[in-house]
Amino acid sequence: TTHDALVGTLPGVRLENDTHVCEITRFGAHVASWRVKRTSDELLFRSKLAKLDGTKAIRGGVPVCFPQFSDMGPCAQSHGFARTSVWAVEALSATEVTMVLRRGDEAGDGDAFGGDYEARFTATLDGDALRTALRVTNAGKSCFEFTSALHTYFRVSDCAKTKVRGLRGTTYLDNLRARASAKDDEDAVEFSGEVDRIYTDAPSVLTIDDEALGRRFRVAKTSTFPDAVVWNPALTDKTRGMSDFGDEEYREMVCVEVAGVKDKITVEPGETWEASQTISYSAI
Ligand code: BG6
Repeated sequence: TTHDALVGTLPGVRLENDTHVCEITRFGAHVASWRVKRTSDELLFRSKLAKLDGTKAIRGGVPVCFPQFSDMGPCAQSHGFARTSVWAVEALSATEVTMVLRRGDEAGDGDAFGGDYEARFTATLDGDALRTALRVTNAGKSCFEFTSALHTYFRVSDCAKTKVRGLRGTTYLDNLRARASAKDDEDAVEFSGEVDRIYTDAPSVLTIDDEALGRRFRVAKTSTFPDAVVWNPALTDKTRGMSDFGDEEYREMVCVEVAGVKDKITVEPGETWEASQTISYSAI
């Protein structure tokens, strides 16, 4: 098709409307780029050290975490196998693509998960917004369960001057304290050090204020992604040990991930679960 695109050596498709371009690789059904057409300004962070050859999940963009978030599931691979499997293009137009991954076609831990699934990822350019949706159908005869996230890396000019708003009063599990539960009483989440939190039953709209640049991202999620993860690794030994992430790059990103983590998502035979996010931005 005319939408063929290569990100590194990874085949994929390019979506385009009047104002924006978006590239999605078949490896991971991964949104690797979402940019402003006129200026080529990237809206999503992608590490300069990201592997773009299929040997590792792409560090940046929108990784699809399925059938598990982090280590919260049966797979050995962090965040499950979806982000390192090659998906098939099922439907494509100028502004929308749907990719599919089925049981048996994944890389890695399909057997550990065991579910007879069909996963569909759809990315849609809609004006100045990008919608990403995940649908999971149970094609088998017994019920299965999983955890999931759309792990978006937002590009910011300086995380120290970035604030995530909308979570005041929400409870989170703190990944830095053995997932101990805490309540967020702050006006905004700020990034003066490592932050790694699973907010449970998060509100449907969150904003990311990049005050240095004067840009606000808006993340709107469906209630079928009840949770939201906020992550910035700061500069720690863990960051230094990440081969696909530069030591100083934490400054340029904030992850806000729509997720279903605290309660496992259950899909009965013949049923389909669907969840999505719409991300957009404006001047502050
Ligand atoms: C976040 C987790 O979602 O993903 C973090 O909350 C984790 O704990 C991060 O470090 C990155 O994970 P990975 O597997 O892509 O290095």
